[in-house]
Amino acid sequence: MKKKVAILASGNGTNAENIIRYFSGSETACVNLLIANRKDAYALERAKRLGVPSVYMGKDEWKEGANVLGLLRREGVDFVVLAGFLARVPQAVIDAFPRRIVNIHPALLPKFGGKGMYGSHVHEAVLAAGEKESGITIHYINEHYDEGDIVAQFRCEVLPGDTPDELASRVHALEYKHFPEVIERLVTAL
Ligand code: GAR
Repeated sequence: MKKKVAILASGNGTNAENIIRYFSGSETACVNLLIANRKDAYALERAKRLGVPSVYMGKDEWKEGANVLGLLRREGVDFVVLAGFLARVPQAVIDAFPRRIVNIHPALLPKFGGKGMYGSHVHEAVLAAGEKESGITIHYINEHYDEGDIVAQFRCEVLPGDTPDELASRVHALEYKHFPEVIERLVTAL
């Protein structure tokens, strides 16, 4: 049976769109739900356009977790993907999906992770530290930000004179290339 994947997103949603497109027509999995924690997350719009049911859930719902978990259960979700999701996942959801929730982080963890390290903040920190390389980390989530077991990492160069935007676009390219393939591998093994 095709596995059902839910995406959690907070912002633009380019990864969400890339993942939805990758699995459309796949025999292995389909994205059947996108949940955003911000009303104005453009990810909601992208999902709608691609015919994926999308739902906004507010602060209180992420705090107590029952509605998020209820929705995931009702939709028969097998696997959860955080694609630019910046809120805490409720403990009840983490407990209900052991090793079935992955996050993507736009740097090579354990460096440049933790609370407040997201999006351009990460790239600015990498450049300020004078790193010669950066990349992406795909990892299971646990109760601590960016500390779950690492599933895969992919690297790219940091070039002299890079701006945060230039580094971000190199990192995004890695995300688009590898994230769907890693999800496919994990979902196939369920
Ligand atoms: C991605 O680069 C993702 O790695 C990062 O946010 C961006 C979302 O872009 N996630 C984090 O920083 C999590 N700590 P998108 O909304 O266009 O997919």
